[in-house]
Amino acid sequence: MTPGPMALNFSETTSSEIFAQRLLQSNDDILPQVLAVAVAHLHAIIRELRPTQADWRKVIEFLTDVGHASDERRQEWVLLSDLLGASALVEEINSRRPKTATPNTVRGPFFRADVPQVASGGNISLDGVGEKLEVIGRVQDLDGDPVAGAEIITWQANAQGFYENQQPDLQPEFNLRGRFKTDDDGRFHYWTIKPCGYGVPDDGPVGKLLRQAGYPLSRPAHLQFMINAPGFETITTHIYDGSDPHLAEDAIFSVKPELVRTFERQGEGSWRVDLTFVMVRARQRTGA
Ligand SMILES: [Fe+2]
Repeated sequence: MTPGPMALNFSETTSSEIFAQRLLQSNDDILPQVLAVAVAHLHAIIRELRPTQADWRKVIEFLTDVGHASDERRQEWVLLSDLLGASALVEEINSRRPKTATPNTVRGPFFRADVPQVASGGNISLDGVGEKLEVIGRVQDLDGDPVAGAEIITWQANAQGFYENQQPDLQPEFNLRGRFKTDDDGRFHYWTIKPCGYGVPDDGPVGKLLRQAGYPLSRPAHLQFMINAPGFETITTHIYDGSDPHLAEDAIFSVKPELVRTFERQGEGSWRVDLTFVMVRARQRTGA
């Protein structure tokens, strides 16, 4: 005789099954599917780690602190997702591209969409602090043909590792941010300064927990880009300075070998980097 839903006693062996049966009563489509998987894994974690009630209260206190640390200016939950590799994994699953295309990475919290247009050859370092860096870029499709009229938004940290919107009193607004258009040859060109790597915020519950555990919380030096062109998938990505010692331990798992470049010295206190971004046509998406 098969026991009906009411006949099961809640136990280590039946907990997930009982939960799944209750979900069948739901009239929602997506939530029950997500919950069934999530709760089955949660119960498995508890069976495996066997926390005491006091241990479990600590988990709940930690999650409560994460919630309290989040507001309009700070998203501690996103930080938790980033530092656990969850954001990078979601990105990985959703934006797989052909090998020769530029991969996407996590956008991160410092992006601003309201960036002014900068003329080709312009300088986005508004305070002039740092070592000069010339960026020569090209946007092309999978066949190597130029993508003309592509819009490029760039944003980066300064030579101390801070974004303009982290230091509104110290840096001019829109410092180290720019919006460019590629020319008929798919090229763009601007001047900036060499960015410095930075630590992720470690003054909240997530940073505190991971710092206590001796976990790396640094991000290697990088430039960030969002590239849009009609008919193409938007690229949101990083370009990393190949000389940064923390390349192998990026706190948010966003370093990929194809995104690492050598910043070449071109005279005293001046650097240069050459970039090629390869876009995928929206209809070329195969999911492979
Ligand atoms: Fe960044």
